[in-house]
This record gives sequence, C-alpha cells and structure tokens, in this order.
Amino acid sequence: MKSQEIRSKFLDFYNSKQHLIVPSAPMVLKNDPTLMFTNSGMAPFKEYFLGNAAPKSTRIADSQKCLRVSGKHNDLEEVGYDTYHHTMFEMLGNWSFGDYFKKEAIAWAWELLTEVYKIPKDILYVTVFEGDKEDGTSMDTEAYDLWKAHISEDRILKGNKKDNFWEMGDQGPCGPCSEIHVDIRSAEEKAKIDGKSLVNEDHPQVVEIWNLVFMQYNRKASGALEELPAKHIDTGMGFERLCMVLQNVQSNYDTDVFTPLIREIETISGVAYGNNEKIDVAIRVIADHVRAVAFAIADGQLPSNNGAGYVIRRILRRAIRYGFTFLNQKDPFIFKLAETLSHQMGDAFPEIKKQFTLVHNVIKEEEASFLRTLDQGLLLLDKVIEETKDKEIAGKKAFELYDTYGFPLDLTQLIAREKGYTVNEDEFASEMEKQKNRSRSASASETGDWIILDDNSTEEFIGYDTLKSDIKVTRYRKVTSKKGGDQYQLVFNKTPFYPEGGGQVGDKGYIETNNGDVIHVLDTKKENNVIIHFTKNLPKNIEDTFTAVVNEEYRNLSASNHTATHLLHQALRTILGTHVEQKGSLVNPDYLRFDFSHFSKVEADQLEEIEAFVNARIKENLPLIEKRAIPMQQAIEEGAIALFGEKYGDDVRAIKFGKSMELCGGTHVQQTGDIWYFKIKSEGAVAAGIRRIEAITNVAVGNYFEEVEKNYTEVKQLLKNPKDLIKSVSNLQDENTALKKQVEQLLKDKAKNMKGELKNQLQEINGVNYLATKVDLDPNSIKNLLFELGGEVDNLFVLFATAPTKEKAMLTCYISKDLANERGYDAGKVVRELGKFIHGGGGGQNFFATAGGKNPGGIPKVLDKAKEYIS
Ligand code: ALA
Repeated sequence: MKSQEIRSKFLDFYNSKQHLIVPSAPMVLKNDPTLMFTNSGMAPFKEYFLGNAAPKSTRIADSQKCLRVSGKHNDLEEVGYDTYHHTMFEMLGNWSFGDYFKKEAIAWAWELLTEVYKIPKDILYVTVFEGDKEDGTSMDTEAYDLWKAHISEDRILKGNKKDNFWEMGDQGPCGPCSEIHVDIRSAEEKAKIDGKSLVNEDHPQVVEIWNLVFMQYNRKASGALEELPAKHIDTGMGFERLCMVLQNVQSNYDTDVFTPLIREIETISGVAYGNNEKIDVAIRVIADHVRAVAFAIADGQLPSNNGAGYVIRRILRRAIRYGFTFLNQKDPFIFKLAETLSHQMGDAFPEIKKQFTLVHNVIKEEEASFLRTLDQGLLLLDKVIEETKDKEIAGKKAFELYDTYGFPLDLTQLIAREKGYTVNEDEFASEMEKQKNRSRSASASETGDWIILDDNSTEEFIGYDTLKSDIKVTRYRKVTSKKGGDQYQLVFNKTPFYPEGGGQVGDKGYIETNNGDVIHVLDTKKENNVIIHFTKNLPKNIEDTFTAVVNEEYRNLSASNHTATHLLHQALRTILGTHVEQKGSLVNPDYLRFDFSHFSKVEADQLEEIEAFVNARIKENLPLIEKRAIPMQQAIEEGAIALFGEKYGDDVRAIKFGKSMELCGGTHVQQTGDIWYFKIKSEGAVAAGIRRIEAITNVAVGNYFEEVEKNYTEVKQLLKNPKDLIKSVSNLQDENTALKKQVEQLLKDKAKNMKGELKNQLQEINGVNYLATKVDLDPNSIKNLLFELGGEVDNLFVLFATAPTKEKAMLTCYISKDLANERGYDAGKVVRELGKFIHGGGGGQNFFATAGGKNPGGIPKVLDKAKEYIS
C-alpha cells in the first residue's frame, strides 16, 4: 500500500465515524509563548483541551506535521542513527473533545489496524498504565478490561509513568495512555526472543506505532493532578512507522516516504545507500532534515539567528555537515531535494508546492553561507592543530569551534584524528555545561497556577469598538523570575486590550480601582486563546470591578502602521507582482517592518512608485470595511488573502481598504486619511528571496521631516546660505578631489628632496649605515622613502619617528635584508622594545616593522636608544 493510500484510509475511516477531517495546522507556531513548534497532533487543539474555546466538532481527525527538536520532546540527536526517529514526522490522530472516551478509542483503533489495514493480530502488543504512587494514580483497569475484548491477555502489558502517562508539557492536560506496539521481526528472531520483552526497549523492529491518550487530568504548577471537568481522547499514530509495517520493510527510511529522497541523494553524491553505516547515517540525516527545513520554510519560518529560526538553521546545518563529511559534498546540494519533496508531498500538503521557489532558494543560500563558514572553521582548526604542542586539542578550543562555527565535537575529532590528534572531551563537556547554565539562568522564571475567581466567565475582546471598559478579573497567576522583577498575569471577563498578534504589538494602558489606584498594564498577549494582561502588581480587592483603559496614542499609532502595512502589501502586489507574499511583519507605534517574497532588489524608482501608491490610498480616505466572525470559507470565496503558515480559526475577521481584502485580527484606522502620510525608510535583503521594507506613518513622518529640515538648514548655514545648495556641495567635492591630488604630489616631491638630505646624515658605525631621526611625513611616504633608500644604500639601518598629532607617535624601522639575515638584526624587535617609550607597541618582519603609540614625548628617548642596537 502506497503511503498516500495509507494516509487517506486513516482519514476516511474516521470520517466514517463522524469525525471532522481538518488540514494539518502549521508546523511552526506563532503567538504561542509556551511552544515553538507543533510537537504532537494535539498541540493545535490545546485551547480546546484547556476549555478556552469550543471546537467546531467534538470529533476531529487529521494528519498533522510535527517537529520534535526542542523542549520536552526532542529527538534531534538520535535522528539518522536509528531507523525510526525523525525531526519532522506526520502524526495521524483522532480526537474526542468531551465526546467518546476509552471504549470507542480502543475499539476503533483496533478495527482500523486489523480490519482496514489488515495487520495480523499476532504481531501486535498493547500497553496500559500501571499507576503511580507519587501521583496517587492507580492502574488503568478500565483500559485493561476494554482491551481484553480484542486481544489475548498475554499481549496486554503494563507500563510505568514514563511510557504510559502522557503530558503535553510541565503543566496542563494529561492522562494515562495505551500504546500499540508492533513486532515485525522475522519468525526466526521471534523464536529466539519473546517480543513481549522487547516492547519499549528501543528495538528497531519492535516499535510503538500508536498512542491513545485518555486525557482526564490537569497537571498543576505544584505538580499535583486534578480531574478535568470533561474527558477527552487524544491519539497519535506515527505515519512513517505505519508505512514501514504496511509496506513490509524494516526501516522507515525504506518506505516510499523516504526512498525517492534517498535515491536523489545517491544520484547527487554518487554514493549508494546500504553499504556503509557512516554513509547510511548521513543519508538518513539529510533525507530527514530536508523535510523538516523545507516544511518550516513553507510555513513561513526562515532560518535565522534566534528562536525558532535558529532551531531550523541548526537542523539544516546538521544535514550540511553530514553531507560535507561523509558524502564529500563541498557545494550546496540539499536544495536540489526540494523538488522531489514537493512532488511527493505536494498533494497532501499543498504549501510545499506553492512555496517551492522560496524553499529552494532559501536552502541554497543557507547552504552556501554555511559552507563558507565551514571553510573558515577548517582553516581555524588547522591553526589550532598547528599551535597544539602535545597532540591533544584543548576542549576549550574545540568548544569555540562548536560555538562560533557550528563544528560539533565529532567533526573536530574526525579531522583531528586524521592528523594524529585527539580532543580533550572532558574539557569540552565542561564548557558546554557552563554555557547551558548561562542560558538557563538567563531564562529562568516560574509560572504559578491560575487562581480562579470566576470559572463561568468567558473572555470577550471588545477592543475593536472601545478603548475603555468596566471589567472584572476572572483569574490571575504570578510569574516569579529568578532575575528579580516578578510579574502578574491577569485575565478579564472582557477586555479592550489588543493582545500581541499578526505582527502588531500588544496594547499598554492601566486598570483603575474605585479609589483611584492605578495598576499599569505593561503588555498584552494571547496564550491558548486567552488574553493575558501583564502587570507589576495586583490590584487590592481583586474581586472588585475596575476600569480598564488602553493607552490611546500607543494604540492609534499602531493602528496607523497596521493599516499602512496592508496598503503596502497591496502596493507591492500591484507594482512588483502577485508573487509577493507576506513573510513577516512587525507593527508598533514607531514604525512598521514588512518582509515579503521577491527575488531582486526593489529599485529606487519602484520604491517611489510604492510610496506614491500608498499615499494615494491615504489621500482617497478609504473607509475600513470590516466583516467580523465570518466563516473562513466565505472569506476566501470573497477574495480575502490568507497568509501561509498562519493558523486561522473556523470564523475569521476580514478587513478591506479599497480593493484588497485580507484576513486580519489586528486593529486599524477608521479611514486611511488617519494615517496622514507614509514614508519608506529602508529596503534590503533578509534572506535569499526575502526583502524587508521599513516605513513610518503619522507623527513619525512629521518628526522625520522636521529632522531632515533641521539638518538641511544647518548644512546651508555651514555653507553660508548659497543660492543653490546642491551645486555648492558638488563644487566643494570637486575642489576636495583636486586638493587631494595636489597634496599627494607635494608629499612625493617632499620625500624626494628629503632623500638626498637624509643620505647625507647617514653615519657609518661598525660597517652599518645608520640613521635615527624624526621626520614629518605620512606613513605611506615613509615606507616608499625607506625602500628607495634601501635600494640605493647597502647595509642600511634607519629608524624614523613621527608625531602626526599631539597624542600619536609612530616608529618605522628599516634594515637591509642582508644585514638583518646575516647579523641577526631584527626590525620587529627594535620597534617592539622602543615602542614602550611612546606607550605603544607594534611589530613586523626582521627587515621592516612599525609601531604606534600615544606618547610623542618619548621620541627623543627612542632616537637616543636606537644606536644601542648596532653598537
Ligand atoms: N499526544 C500523544 C502523543 O503525542 C498522542 O503521543
């Protein structure tokens, strides 16, 4: 059965059980402070499990793109070494939100595996939770009894908290789980060792394929468990592992999910898979990682230097290193796999097809730049090896290579070993530990449990219509920071505060108590669909009604920049073309930043046109047309532009200024005239195929023009108020060029004249033609003069001192090469030692060296001492 069919069969099966089939959510999460990537099928539904929002259907199923490379679930370092772990993988899942529970979840999973996929029952094992003393939980006898109806008891195994209790994170919904394992070993192997003893033992052919989680608890910050008001089902089946079983192969990498990629890697590198373990690991790493990186980019996450972008960059770099070291790939090549991938996955995940050019170009550029870094690192490693006396490279040096050049220890060791060196691993490990501690203490904070004041209240956002409202706090919690500066997070029954999202910063403002006390709201963010207000203090009498007031100026300026962002997007698509897609956006009161796909520089005349387009829309004073809470499908049919990698709810808000309609939750001006004016401040590249425009609107434009005018006036005054300023500056530049030329010529003449004079001053001492004197020349002329003198006079030893300013002194020493080589004179040593008198230092070769210092007062002493070197 081909993988496409395996996927469809899963979705069809759950559709027949009244599940709503939804597309995969983006793999990269935006606006979720607690999670960077979708790390399991349930992550996009967290808000439903937490009861913060209601799902469209109480039964849902999908195939979700997941990435396990950071946080609680991180498999990165294992990938490649075994045959069944991945960074990116698909998780087939079915969910019940307060609908069916264990009975149906178990029965359907069994039916699908054994009747639809026809997996023989005698290769399956199931596990149930045995209970945990510390948590006070008992064995899941309910699941045990339910399984008994389907499978013989000797195939039902008990598992501990580590294997059979699933938690989303340190806090939140969790519960016991039942896993389904498959034993695909040969009959011969099975006769030798009973499969039962290999379950959960990391055996490559006895693996877990499906996890059925029975969500019935909430883990609190204290670690305690409390019963959830409604019980849910969350299941996750590893798609690639299922394909392995159904395609009768022994490794995920031998399924048709990976073989097209592996064949392509073989073609590019000319190395075959399956002959050499090290090469095989490298091929698996690359086949796995290209999927993770390509889908991340398609979801809008570009490789970068921080956050999620850095994780993506590290994954790609890991693939590049393996290709570089084991497949001898010294030029970019991973980008070539994007085509195979888009071919193979494009039907199930259209984003990879649509974003193909971007994925291809970004990976190529990243590869090229990292390969340059690798080259530099290799040179550095050569130098380290050269400087290492005892055949053991210091762990500190190896760590430096790792930290700055992304050289992992094994690569450094490999290269070192080839040259007969080892690396001090303990020291490396201790450096690594130090760095981990540094970042741990930088980010350490603890979030307490919610204190619930009003459980029934749902939170409403009223900030599109008002900036002020009476509110009540429904819950709050404390965030204790190890660095000091504790904060509180407050949730209201309704709020005018806009939470950070869609690029726009969260509102600031305050809440006021009845007796006039003011608590500042420092920021507003959304977490799992709940709007959270950040404050330094808690209001007294927290159960009172307060007045919440949004900072109007801050909000209005953000709104001005947000609407301008939409007009800019329109302008770019009109002037540059509809290939332009938003790739990132920041909107705050001061300015706007807009990243978009476009493959060349935006030229100055295009920028002018873009600015004019936006300002024309501002002048037209277009009103905001807003449709709140319309079904997503309707918005798309009406022509609204949705963004790739953005997770939209079932109902969306569409906004329109003029012709173009976009899906957007942000705040906007009522009519475009409120923006006043739009001015582009800069245009540049962010990554391959991604450009960035920064612009300002409103009062910022006023301030900008004021500043420009002030500078203009000052320049005019400096130039004595000429009639034509431009001409006057241009004349000045011409004059300056002519003068520079004259000075150069004069200096040359002066040096020529000096030469004769200096020759006369030479003294013969011990067979050396010696001179130490102060001169008044620039460094370049000094050098020329010395080399000319050297060409004309043998056995020369000259030291020149100059003092270009009151705080600057320079020494230059020239010694004829024969003299230096035969009699051991060393110009470098001379300037180094004499440099002390001018409070400086320097060096060079034995025949020519210079030193610089801060003390011209020391020059007489230098000239005095110089003679000592020849007598
Ligand atoms: N959420 C469960 C898991 O990821 C199904 O294993």
